[in-house]
Amino acid sequence: MEVEAVIFDLDGVLVHTDRFHYLAWAELADEKGIYFDENINQRLRGVSREQSLEIILERYDGPELSPEEKKEMTDKKNATYRKFLERMTSDDVSQEVRDTLQKLKASGLKLAVGSSSKNTKFILEKTGLADEFDAVSDGTMIKRTKPDPEVFRLAGNLLGMKPEKCLVVEDAVAGIEAGKAAGMKTAAYGEAATGHIADYDLEHFSDLLKILINHADRG
Ligand code: BG6
Ligand code: MG
Repeated sequence: MEVEAVIFDLDGVLVHTDRFHYLAWAELADEKGIYFDENINQRLRGVSREQSLEIILERYDGPELSPEEKKEMTDKKNATYRKFLERMTSDDVSQEVRDTLQKLKASGLKLAVGSSSKNTKFILEKTGLADEFDAVSDGTMIKRTKPDPEVFRLAGNLLGMKPEKCLVVEDAVAGIEAGKAAGMKTAAYGEAATGHIADYDLEHFSDLLKILINHADRG
């Protein structure tokens, strides 16, 4: 069945805030003397702030941490992360991403964001992307984050689209799993594309045009 809507992950797909997540977690891990590296960071893609901390704490061997101490840690990480976000502008969205979104929209496709991040709306505002989407489903609106399908199901519902008409674009393995669990088609970008687990692997963001427009007739 033909794709009629595209649901984009945010961090690492539309914008490179994945780097800021890494730097903010690295600062926290350093402070606490916890080993952290790029490989561990890959496992944080798409998963919630709280689950990310649990993954980082796999390398922690100090006294047990209370829920309050963990909350303090996630708050601290988010404060560092928000400092990076504060400095974002429309220059943080590549011309390739802007042109591709424009062309997809012009072809009649509905566009949405599906992100685990509670900072989604702030990032969309800072980068001037807020008006580019027909729907936004984010970490403030869901109970379970990726790989659970909730965030993408909600995006599909907000668009009024059946799952099989939606294509999810993701840089996280957890995100591809979530898209599949939602019954949607999937396109992997960046890190997720290395495992060949999605329906499509994108080398460039603009490859979406080849997949979605060149073979479709939308008048
Ligand atoms: C996802 C990121 O988009 O959002 C994860 O890939 C992050 O790494 C998650 O943990 C939650 O983000 P936030 O902004 O609510 O801490
Ligand atoms: Mg991502």
